[in-house]
Amino acid sequence: MLAIRLVRGSSEPAALVLPVRPGGPDAPAELAPTAVAPDDDVRAEATAVLAASRLTGTAGELREHLRPGGRPARLWLLGVGDGGERDWRTAGGALARAGRDETQITIALSGEATAALRGLAEGLLLGAYRFRLTEAGERPALAEAQILTADPDALAGTLATARTTAEMTMLARDLTNMPASTKNPRWLADQVAQAASGRADLHLRVREPQELAAEGFGGLLAVGGGSAQGPRLVELDWRPAGARTHVVLVGKGITFDTGGISIKPVPAMKLMRKDMGGAAAVLAATLGAAELRLPVRVTTLAPLAENAVSGSAFRPGDIIRHYGGLTSESTNTDAEGRLVLADALAYAVRELKPDLLVDLATLTGANAVALGKRHAALYSENDTLADDLLDAISAAGERAWRLPLADDYLEYLGSDIADLHSSPARGAGSVVAALFLREFTGDLRDRWAHLDMSAPSWSDDTNGELVKGATGWGVRGLLRWLATLG
Ligand code: BES
Ligand code: MN
Ligand code: ZN
Repeated sequence: MLAIRLVRGSSEPAALVLPVRPGGPDAPAELAPTAVAPDDDVRAEATAVLAASRLTGTAGELREHLRPGGRPARLWLLGVGDGGERDWRTAGGALARAGRDETQITIALSGEATAALRGLAEGLLLGAYRFRLTEAGERPALAEAQILTADPDALAGTLATARTTAEMTMLARDLTNMPASTKNPRWLADQVAQAASGRADLHLRVREPQELAAEGFGGLLAVGGGSAQGPRLVELDWRPAGARTHVVLVGKGITFDTGGISIKPVPAMKLMRKDMGGAAAVLAATLGAAELRLPVRVTTLAPLAENAVSGSAFRPGDIIRHYGGLTSESTNTDAEGRLVLADALAYAVRELKPDLLVDLATLTGANAVALGKRHAALYSENDTLADDLLDAISAAGERAWRLPLADDYLEYLGSDIADLHSSPARGAGSVVAALFLREFTGDLRDRWAHLDMSAPSWSDDTNGELVKGATGWGVRGLLRWLATLG
């Protein structure tokens, strides 16, 4: 993996990366002021190149300038936009890929050092991410990035945080990208056990189907019933001494969503191995909280199941008895996510009694209909919790937008024979799904938030810190948010 080193100065780097920002209106892009390097003659040369170029300074833009016989032999002019954390992250991602054939590059940092470094380091690590299952040799990748800064010691902690954040995001990406032929509920639970092993401060409990039946997790058992691989409930607990706040995170963990008997058509099914992206994000964030020793208790619940088609699959019209006793009528087995989440939320409220409850789920296609490909939908009745989550998500370079828990649609959840109808065909899909979940939040109703992350959990292209495929959405925002509690 890419090594990142903080250095005060570099003796004659082969390739020196200089940050470039937009100039004023009608002015060419200009060098951003840096604390260390370059020398005056290099600076003058770069300024001349910029003046004669069409570079705009937009984050991620890159131009190589060769200096035959010179030291540095190559200058890379890297657009860093406004020089803030988000733009540096975008630039870092582009740089990691452009530097694929380099053994080492040296980067001069501009702007506020902590924010710039955090963005750059996360961008470099995440932008270099690859998921490949092949016997062919590794593709070349950038081996080492030196970052020039006036005070390496002062930034060591920031770099460590950025590294853990990126590593956990990549863990979530790996799990989500993995084909479902490998990734069944047992395999996923084993991966968590492996990641948590050797950490006495992390407690893991994995419930098997028999235990789920004994305790009444009817939603998880119904959804998982059609698969040859039984469902699991993963409970991972980070419990630091002296923690004053207890957060429960819940993540949807459908290892493959065929739709069940209400089977999906081909185009809608092809990527449904990603339907455990919520579980991957909350589990990785919890491992990250432990790694960073965040002083907040985090219990994570990941209901894991494969929504398969078989003679033992649940059917449209079945009535499900959820954990805690509420019943629901399902007329579309493709609305399976809310059924497994309902059990986990009810269990959290009754047994864990946390201060705050947050769930992440690739819950509805309607998320993308409403907000496009990049934004998750956030729901909460608690303005402070909603704002805190939105702030953290945005600061971490992710995106979410708040949508209403509109009581207008509650009537759609009515059933003649059960407490609730789980899959009404009417109403705003993402909102109605959130309203259904709310019914299971009991007295935590106003300390709960739900994130429908179907859209941003996957990227169709490679851009900035995102690489085509699973994005690991939620890990960065959650870690940022958890770091503010305590
Ligand atoms: N896993 C899907 C939602 C989804 C769609 C995630 C596209 C990522 C990309 C979910 O289980 C589902 O099938 N939802 C249905 C609900 C409907 C049947 C009420 C949907 O959104 O169509
Ligand atoms: Mn579904
Ligand atoms: Zn699903």
